[in-house]
Amino acid sequence: MTTTQTFDTLASTYDVDFTDTLIGRYLRRRVHSRIDQYFKPGDSVLELGCGTGEDALYLAERGVRVTATDASEAMLALVRDKTRAHPRVRVVRFDLHNLTPPPTPLPVNGEGEKSKNTFDGAFANFGPLNVLDDWRPLAAWLAERIKPGGVIAFGVMSPYCLWEVGWHSLHGDFKTATRRLRKRASFQPGDSTPLAIHYPTIRRLTRDFAPHFKRTYIAGLGLFLPPSDVYGVIEKRPRLLRMLTWLEERFAHLGFLAPFADHYWIEFERMV
Ligand SMILES: C[S@@+](CC[C@H](N)C(=O)[O-])C[C@H]1O[C@@H](n2cnc3c(N)ncnc32)[C@H](O)[C@@H]1O
Repeated sequence: MTTTQTFDTLASTYDVDFTDTLIGRYLRRRVHSRIDQYFKPGDSVLELGCGTGEDALYLAERGVRVTATDASEAMLALVRDKTRAHPRVRVVRFDLHNLTPPPTPLPVNGEGEKSKNTFDGAFANFGPLNVLDDWRPLAAWLAERIKPGGVIAFGVMSPYCLWEVGWHSLHGDFKTATRRLRKRASFQPGDSTPLAIHYPTIRRLTRDFAPHFKRTYIAGLGLFLPPSDVYGVIEKRPRLLRMLTWLEERFAHLGFLAPFADHYWIEFERMV
């Protein structure tokens, strides 16, 4: 089974299972508060692994032009539907395992030739980069397409999620508790064939992007809040949810704690 088929099976329930949950919405707000700082109205931004298009829609509503890409046709169909009213979103199928043909920025009247092939920035939220096992080709590919000083940012599933280790150990499921630490980890929604997933350390990603990009920011996403398979348990307990969100708000931005969160948010700047 390919990546595309695996995520096609998830597309129709993705927003209910993740996007529209209380915790999913809170974490996405945190991401939005970051991207608001560097993706400005009129900018042209490339999104990788856009899923159902929630972030593309958010940016387009703020005047940012988004080329939203994903490998899953089922996901892209939902993006087209969600962003139909937004001329600032272009939806393109693009597989991170095959970096050609390149998506191009949305053209704007009066722009020169160069800007037609250059994005102001790029991002991938909540895990698309975890399907790769070597990030250097993507870094080199992005280096050719991001303007000097432009920001690229990624939400990446981290290798040492304390919540996952603790929760599944407490329930005697040591296989799941340690899945991110194994060399060969996989993702298997429903009855599908397992898809290889990789959990790069912050150091590894920083090194792979280093020839072209300087790391500028790191924070945890889901340090006190749990991974999505435990959302239901926590969201049923409003006081506990409030307490965990309070802790998340105060401590998750501390960079040295980021490796222990469910995801880390990492930002780079294209070196001149
Ligand atoms: C966990 S979802 C995240 C979706 C979205 N970014 C969000 O914030 O909700 C991961 C996404 O990565 C996409 N993806 C997986 N493998 C991919 C690949 N090889 N190339 C491009 N996208 C891929 C999936 O189809 C899925 O939409």
